[in-house]
Amino acid sequence: MSSYQIKNLEEYYQVYRKSVRDPENFWAEIAEEHFVWRKPWDKVLDWDFSKPEVKWFEGAQLNITENCIDRHLATQADKTAIIFEPNDPKEKAQHISYQQLHEKVCAFSNVLKDQGIKKGDRVCIYLPMIPELAVSILACARIGAIHSVVFAGFSSTAIASRINDCECNMVITSDGSFRGTKKIDLKGIVDEALESTPTIKSVLVVKRTEVPINMKEGRDHWVQPLLDKASMDCPIEIMNAEDPLFILYTSGSTGKPKGMMHTTAGYMVYSAYTFKNVFQYKVGDVYWCTADIGWITGHSYIVYGPLANGATTLMFEGVPNFPDFSRFWEIIEKHKVNQFYTAPTAIRALAKEKLDYVENHDLSSLKVLGTVGEPINEEAWHWYNDNVGKKKSPIVDTWWQTETGGIMISPIPYCTPTIPTYATLPLPGIQPALMDEQGKELKGNQVDGRLCIKFPWPGMARTIWGDHKRYKDTYFTAFENKYFTGDGALRDTVGYYRITGRVDDVIIVSGHNLGTAPIEDAINEHPAVAESAIVGFPHDVKGNALYGYVILKETGESRMHDNLRKEINQIITEHIGPIAKLDKIQFTEGLPKTRSGKIMRRILRKIACNETDSLGDTSTLLNPEVVQEIIDNKL
Ligand code: WT7
Repeated sequence: MSSYQIKNLEEYYQVYRKSVRDPENFWAEIAEEHFVWRKPWDKVLDWDFSKPEVKWFEGAQLNITENCIDRHLATQADKTAIIFEPNDPKEKAQHISYQQLHEKVCAFSNVLKDQGIKKGDRVCIYLPMIPELAVSILACARIGAIHSVVFAGFSSTAIASRINDCECNMVITSDGSFRGTKKIDLKGIVDEALESTPTIKSVLVVKRTEVPINMKEGRDHWVQPLLDKASMDCPIEIMNAEDPLFILYTSGSTGKPKGMMHTTAGYMVYSAYTFKNVFQYKVGDVYWCTADIGWITGHSYIVYGPLANGATTLMFEGVPNFPDFSRFWEIIEKHKVNQFYTAPTAIRALAKEKLDYVENHDLSSLKVLGTVGEPINEEAWHWYNDNVGKKKSPIVDTWWQTETGGIMISPIPYCTPTIPTYATLPLPGIQPALMDEQGKELKGNQVDGRLCIKFPWPGMARTIWGDHKRYKDTYFTAFENKYFTGDGALRDTVGYYRITGRVDDVIIVSGHNLGTAPIEDAINEHPAVAESAIVGFPHDVKGNALYGYVILKETGESRMHDNLRKEINQIITEHIGPIAKLDKIQFTEGLPKTRSGKIMRRILRKIACNETDSLGDTSTLLNPEVVQEIIDNKL
C-alpha cells in the first residue's frame, strides 16, 4: 500500500497507526518511492531527545534541487513550475516552466560559484517576492551553500545581526521592492546593515524597481550581466542527508533571534509529503500560498514542498489591498487557483471590506482553503468558508512552526471533517502529547495542557545555529524527552486538537512571531527610557496587538509623551521592523515585580486586556501599589 496521498478518513487512521507503530518503515517507504537519491541511507533514524540529536536517512546522498527540478524534466519540462504575479496588475504575469527554472537555477548557481561561494558557506538573501528569490534559494541548495533568507520587511539592524550570527559571505538583494503604491529602497537598507558585517565579501543585486542606488566598487555586482554570461548547466553538489540546507531566524521569548537550522533529506521528505496531503494537490492544479518566502511558510509551501511534487506554485509580489481589496480574488480567478493558503489576519482584514470585492469574482476553481500562523477565530473561519469557499471547499487550519519545518496538525481535506478553530488531527508521523505543569502527560481525551511532540519527525530543525545549548534549553528541557512547542492546546472528546495560544513570552501579531524581549531591548535603548514591558492584547484584524508599559528616567510633561511614543516606535522600526510597532504605549511609574525582580507580565497582560477583575493575588509582589496606578492610567 502506498501511503503517499491519503484518500479518506479510514485510510488516514490506518496510515497514522502504521506511522506510530513503525515510524522508520513508514518514512523509509515514502522516501524511497517518491524521491531520487544518489546513494541510499544506511539508517533511517537515529535519535536521542536528551542530547538532543536527531538524524534521518543517515548515509544517504542527494540534492534537493534534483528532486525539485531535474527529475521533472523528463516528464514535464514545459509544465509551469512558478507563476509570478507582479505587484502591478498591469504588468504581465510570468509563467516559468520547469525547463526554464532549471536554466535559471543553473545559471544562478554558476554565478554564485564564480563569486567564490562553495558548499557550506552561508548566503543571506534579502529579496522581495520576485522569481529571483526562489531561484537564488534553489541555486544555493544546488551548490550546497546554506541560505539564510531575511524577510524583506526587516530593518538594517535586524539584517546585520542575522548576517553576523551565522557569518554570511554574501548578500543577494535587489535595488528595491514594490509594495502597492510604494517603492522600498532595499539596497539602501542593506548598505546600512553592511557597515557592521565584516564577513560579507560580495553583494549580488537584482534589478527590480530601477531606482538609482549606490554600488560599492569591488563588493556589489548587478546580477543580470553575470547571469547572461553564465552557463545554463550546473551539476548538483552531492549532499549528505544531514548537511544543512538553510537557516531561518525566528524570535525567541528571550535574547536574540534563533537561527533554526534545517537539514537536507528529512526536510525535503517532510515538506513534500505534507504538501501533497494537506492540500490534496493533484496533477494540473494551480496552488497559491500568499505568505512571503521570508518566512518558513514560504520556504516549505511556496518553494520546496510544491516543487518536489512537480506542482505549479504561484508567487505574488504585492499586497491584498492594491489596487483594491479584490486583488486576491482577482488573482484566484485569473490563474484559476485550486488551493489557496493564507493567514487569519489577512482573512480578517478582507472580511471588513465590502462583500462585492469577493462576489464579483469567479472563485469556482477553488478546492481547498488553508490558514496558518495563528489561531483562526470562528467569525473569520465562517466568513472564509461562506464567501470564499462557498461552503464547498474544506478549510485546513494548519498548525506548525518555523522549528517543525512543515505542517504538524491539520485536517486532510475531503478526509477529516473540519470544525472551526480546530487544527484537528496530527499528520502521520506526528505524535503529540499534552502535558500538565508538573510534567505529567495528560492521557485520554478532553484534556488541556502544554503541547509537546514525543517522537522525532523528518522535518524538525536540528539545532540553533551556533548554540546547541540554547536549542536544548528552549525545546527539550521543560519536559523530559519531549519537544516542547511553546503552545498550549486542548484535545476534545474525539481527539481533535485546538491550539489555545502561546504559553511563553512570544506574541503572534498578524501571524508574525514576536518575542517580547527583543522589543523591550530596542525600547530601552531610547535615552529617556528606564525600563519597559510588552504584552499582547486582542485586536480584531491583527489577532494580537502590542501594548507597551514604559518607565521614563524622568517623568516628562504629558505633551511630550506623544513625541516619545513616536520615537519609541521609530526605534523599534529601526531595530526590528515596522511589524513590531506598539499600538499602545502607557507611561508608568513602576512595573509589577516578583520578589526576585521578575516583571509579572501576567498582570500587565490582564490590565491591557481589560480583565482587571481577575488579577489574582497581587499582595506577594514587591510593589503591589503600582498595580492600581497602572489600572487608573490605562489607555
Ligand atoms: C507559532 C509559530 C507555521 C508557519 C507560520 C508561523 C502559531 C501557527 C497556527 C494555527 C494556532 C498557530 C503558534 C506557533 N501558530 N499556526 N494554525 N493555529 N496557532 O511560524 O513564526 O514559527 O510561529 O505560530 O503559536 O507556535 P512561526
